[in-house]
Amino acid sequence: MNVYDGWRIAAMLEHHGMQRTDEISDADIIILNTCAVRAKATDKVFSALGRIRRAKKKSALFGIVGCVARESGTDAFRRIPDLNFVLGPQSYHKLPQILENPDAKLFNIDLGGLEKFDELPQMEKSPTVAYIPIQEGCNHVCTYCIVPYTRGREISRKFDDCVRDTIHAANTGAIEICFLGQNVNGYKYTDENGTTYRLSDLIKQAAKIESVKRIRFTSSYPTEMTDDLIEMFATEPKLLPFLNMPIQSGSQNVLTRMNRPYSLELYTDIIHKLRIARPDIQISSDFIVGFPGESDKDFEQTMRIAEQIKYINSYSFKYSPRPHTAAALMPDQIPENIKAERLAKLDTYLNEVQREFNISCIDKTFECLLEGPDKTGQHLIYRTPYMQQCIVTKSDNTPAPILTKITITAANKASLRGKFAD
Ligand code: 5AD
Ligand code: SF4
Repeated sequence: MNVYDGWRIAAMLEHHGMQRTDEISDADIIILNTCAVRAKATDKVFSALGRIRRAKKKSALFGIVGCVARESGTDAFRRIPDLNFVLGPQSYHKLPQILENPDAKLFNIDLGGLEKFDELPQMEKSPTVAYIPIQEGCNHVCTYCIVPYTRGREISRKFDDCVRDTIHAANTGAIEICFLGQNVNGYKYTDENGTTYRLSDLIKQAAKIESVKRIRFTSSYPTEMTDDLIEMFATEPKLLPFLNMPIQSGSQNVLTRMNRPYSLELYTDIIHKLRIARPDIQISSDFIVGFPGESDKDFEQTMRIAEQIKYINSYSFKYSPRPHTAAALMPDQIPENIKAERLAKLDTYLNEVQREFNISCIDKTFECLLEGPDKTGQHLIYRTPYMQQCIVTKSDNTPAPILTKITITAANKASLRGKFAD
């Protein structure tokens, strides 16, 4: 979501005649697009702001947008008095005001609108992987999560607007469409005629576009994984066989206290149905360890579920108490050393499964999408249908094919190596 927001902000500044620079000391405006999901991310923002303040031109405008802006509010100006603007995740379309009136402080952390999607100019050229936000905010209120506070209640965008943005992205260079939302599979929009559209309808529309070759979506909530969506994995070949569906914990008790009221049976049943619909599907998850009150037994249950599902490419985090959340006030906060121990154990296992999966890909051939050259310029980086990074040696002067079959020749935990298939 933040990557997408960043693109829109950059496109808007280009529209105002600005150019990108990598040098802070050259920049006329510096915008930190921020994440507040864990305390570490927020802390980094304020230390970065301190560095930027010292390195920037005196006349340069600087400020923050996104969830840290929303979370810290006017306190951000108190901590860094020379900040020029603080704009929440639904207000960054107001940035041009600071260009028109650089001497005034700009502050807006309001929620509830989708204006940012429509008020900003469309991007003239889409990246090959186009993110299409279809929904903003979240109604789930997991007790650890700051997102319902920073991004607000869930709003699904109009179906026609999502389709229009998808067509625009395809017409301007997108090959892969990634539908985005905090609770993307809960997408639901009812139009004036009373017709209700779901994510499966958006996938069908995107699949009809000839130049769109790959479709995916992130991030999914288990109870919203309805049969029409599962069916898509069986019937729509453009939908990639890869799904991020966070479980967070393998303990029913912990899930209840997280306010994620689904049963583990329901979760494993969905995975079972998905594997029947698409036998080559792979699943990834997010995990939180050390949630308040998590016992050794609870944590062992998380290990068991990881062993049962065999996730590839997961993200695991130590629980981080966040302002405005219920879990931050719960008793039985887990000491940092225990959180670290559990995280190391889970990560070791998840990494091993990922390595094994990558190795099992050797000698297989996948259709892969070009991401670009690597840092040395001697290799090309492709993405497999499972989002693995695959490195291919560049062939002399022939242009690199954008979507092509690649045979995997070697693998480790982090990436694959491959060669163009004959
Ligand atoms: N502490 C640790 N991890 C968190 N996440 C969300 N809130 C917290 C928190 N307070 C993780 C969840 C979510 C991912 C985006 O971030 O695993 O799926
Ligand atoms: Fe946060 Fe995701 Fe839970 Fe929504 S579903 S409250 S975004 S963790």
